Amino acid sequence: MRRLVGWIDARFPLISLWEEHVSRYYAPKNFNFWYYFGSIALVILVIQIVTGIWLTMNYKPSADEAFASVESIMRDVEWGWLIRYMHSVGASFFFVAVYLHMFRALIYGSYKGNRELIWLLGMFIYVILMAEAFMGYLLPWGQMSYWGAQVIISLFGAIPFGIGEALALWIRGDYVVSDATLNRFFALHVVALPLALLGVVVLHILALHEVGSNNPDGVEIKRNKGPDGNPRDGIPFHPYYTVKDLMGVTVFLFLFAIVVFFVPEFGGWFLEKDNFVRADPLRTPEHIVPLWYFTPFYAILRAIPDKLTGVLAMGASIFVLFFLPWIDRHPVKSIRYRGPLFAALIAVFVLTFVFLGYLGTQAPTRVLGELGLRFGELYFSFFIVLWLYSRERRASVHVNTFIVLAVLIAAADVIRFDAGKVGLILWSALIPLVYYVVFVIGPIVTSLNEPRPVPERVVYR
Ligand code: HEM
Repeated sequence: MRRLVGWIDARFPLISLWEEHVSRYYAPKNFNFWYYFGSIALVILVIQIVTGIWLTMNYKPSADEAFASVESIMRDVEWGWLIRYMHSVGASFFFVAVYLHMFRALIYGSYKGNRELIWLLGMFIYVILMAEAFMGYLLPWGQMSYWGAQVIISLFGAIPFGIGEALALWIRGDYVVSDATLNRFFALHVVALPLALLGVVVLHILALHEVGSNNPDGVEIKRNKGPDGNPRDGIPFHPYYTVKDLMGVTVFLFLFAIVVFFVPEFGGWFLEKDNFVRADPLRTPEHIVPLWYFTPFYAILRAIPDKLTGVLAMGASIFVLFFLPWIDRHPVKSIRYRGPLFAALIAVFVLTFVFLGYLGTQAPTRVLGELGLRFGELYFSFFIVLWLYSRERRASVHVNTFIVLAVLIAAADVIRFDAGKVGLILWSALIPLVYYVVFVIGPIVTSLNEPRPVPERVVYR
């Protein structure tokens, strides 16, 4: 074995790569629970690629045969049901892992301190992952596959001057979702996007290893090296974190197996009931709802009656995430040393995102539609408050921000004024108002936003 490795190493930088990225890569000592999800996401990526290759061996990418070929994979192909369920459950688990991974970056300010590019590459991964999941969902050619694609692609039609219609036609390759659409989505789903995803994941990890990992305290371990030249607050990735990650992956595989074997549809959350009915272009399902990982953004889209504004708001709700490193520039990275108000702000943001996700799955009633709009306002307000908290600001900046936000909300309410909904609009306006009083005015009348004392080694930028 040693001779084989020596033979390869004389011709390829095997040992130096291993040392640079694994055995001599120093990671902070204090990783916690939240640091499991990067390696778990990596494992899910491999699961998706492997099960995807096997599914492709029996899947037929044509409108006539796709649905039946998936049925045959489920019933006739040996172990086909397992491979299919691993792939469909894997898609949802992928988003669970990525959302938790992103949340970790948010609470520990992992996009700060030269780590902007890690975050940006992560955002590219996220967007590619959404495209990958969207296109994959058309392939079984069920009712929800078909109508979901129809609705989402037709959103491009909202772009004015005929550009949107032309774009939608170009994407579909037809006037409606059809065989041509299925074929191109298949090509993108099985070859183009997985390649892009793999490429960007490699860049993501290279960028991480260039700067070094952040951690729950925000210690920059490279700034404090011992006499041996190694970071005092670090330990080699191998064996310490390979073992830790292995434990995380084992627990993940347990949970994954429970879902795959016992509740693969997860009550319609991972595979919708309507998708067990073959696509019928002449029969629209009662509620067209995307899968759970898209519903927060879908709720923002639906909350706005004007189609173009809705599409722009939905696009902006994803686009704004790219700018997080430049919005939140507070010198203290970790939530551990920020004030309680900051922690409350993050908690409310998570609740907002989850509640929007719930609203996106529900039929749009009058009240739920109104709540969708208000929580959409909270979603965007979060980024403004984050910017406000980025450094100590004079009280007048807080007051002015409060006034600007309140005026913007009032103006939006005037524009969409509806005599039949006055009561509803007025009481629901309390939601953003209370939010602004607490988070925008709160820091000037209380000391709840003051950072806590930071230990010596937790350096500021
Ligand atoms: C296929 C999806 C992804 C994979 C496989 C992946 C992989 C990884 C791995 C292995 C790490 C180091 C270990 C860890 O911190 O858990 C990491 C760190 C990081 N990732 Fe990702 N990632 C993915 C998606 C994303 C996304 C969508 C974002 C954000 C938009 C993101 C942002 C970050 C950040 C900021 C770090 C540095 C964390 C720190 O040092 O505290 N990643 N990623």
